[in-house]
Amino acid sequence: MKIQVSTPIMSYMKLLESQGITDIEELSDKLYEHYQQQVSLGLYSNGRYTESGSNVKATVISTHGDKNEECILWCMNHYLGLNRNQNVIDKVCQAVQKYGTGSGTSALSGGMSILHKQVEQKLQKLIGKESVLLFPTGFTTNIGCISALPGKKDLLIFDRECHASIIDGVKLSGRKWVTFKHNNVTDLEQKLNKYKNEYENIFVIVESAYSMSGDLSPLLEIVQLKQKYKFFIYVDEAHTFGIYGQNGAGYCSHLGIVEEVDFIAATLSKATASIGGFVAIKSKYIPLLHWRASTYTFQACLTPADAAAILASLEEIEANPRLIESLHENNHYMRNRLKDLGFDLGISVSPIIPIFIPDTDTLLAFNKELYARGIFSVSIFYPVVKPHEGRIRFILSAVHTKEQIDTTVNTLHELGLKYSIISPQLITAA
Ligand SMILES: Cc1ncc(COP(=O)(O)O)c(C=O)c1O
Repeated sequence: MKIQVSTPIMSYMKLLESQGITDIEELSDKLYEHYQQQVSLGLYSNGRYTESGSNVKATVISTHGDKNEECILWCMNHYLGLNRNQNVIDKVCQAVQKYGTGSGTSALSGGMSILHKQVEQKLQKLIGKESVLLFPTGFTTNIGCISALPGKKDLLIFDRECHASIIDGVKLSGRKWVTFKHNNVTDLEQKLNKYKNEYENIFVIVESAYSMSGDLSPLLEIVQLKQKYKFFIYVDEAHTFGIYGQNGAGYCSHLGIVEEVDFIAATLSKATASIGGFVAIKSKYIPLLHWRASTYTFQACLTPADAAAILASLEEIEANPRLIESLHENNHYMRNRLKDLGFDLGISVSPIIPIFIPDTDTLLAFNKELYARGIFSVSIFYPVVKPHEGRIRFILSAVHTKEQIDTTVNTLHELGLKYSIISPQLITAA
């Protein structure tokens, strides 16, 4: 079978594996050859990096060294732009002076400073659960907690669009698991009904907002199911913590279901512009997680500077409610303009806007030209999403300006017509 040079690396790898190629040398050689071809043709967008760090505007350097001056960036998860906030930066600098750089060891071996403890206390108060455990990253929060919590006779049921860190945690747990159709409460209920008598406990794992599709979880309905079926709920608030709820307490808090959700996890690398993750829980789970979540037990803590950035970001969110408001205003403005132009945004609502472009070659060419016009975002393909559900994703920030949004939408409009992604009729009608 002839492989097109545009085939994304992950899809190509899946194809090679399906052809029985398992040897690491053979697989690596084929992938490397394919990768080099993509790099030389400017089709490998994933290796790009910025000259001056994450921002809404930056000079971007491609894998073969070309510079793209002053791009507008739509691929950063810094929803509130706090990574560039002067108060946050000042507090981080002061923390480095006072507490030094690395943390030295894991939390259980003395790696936590008073700053780390303050982060846990602040998060605990904000979310309103009995306790909070701080992990080194959001990824390892999920891996650690999800692998540690279920017992031998338990079942894990998770949404099919859950993040890799959740899937890895489930696999690492070694427990039985099944998935349910994305955001489909009927399918979830069928699974609960089928398995309710077979297991000691059932854990239902979802995200509050899904990073590939920008849609919110039907959490109220899932919580309602708890009255009929007994189960634990684990919610990953990676894409809602800091940007929904009072002072950014998250989507569970916004919906008033903090009590009903047993485990609320989130990352601190997105809205709070640092690194780290946490789980908010009843205090009784602490010793179990200390000693069964190996990413807690055996991994070094985040650094004092990271902790200072989290604390300062939370203080900024509290002191300046306009931050969250501006993010949602930007989201509505950009989303409505794109919808009026006829772009397919799926069922997204959160400040993640996917534009669906089912044909892979069109998606690649479209994104390549967009980048040449100074607009940088990443395309997402199978197997990360289903075949023919490829998309280009725009992550909004409170600090994107109206001018940047307008420039982006106008360019998308022009290219949308050129690549027949939208039709001129729809635009006239709008
Ligand atoms: C839903 C979800 N959970 C967890 C993570 C991992 O967070 P981090 O990259 O901060 O470790 C991500 C990261 O993109 C995510 O989208």
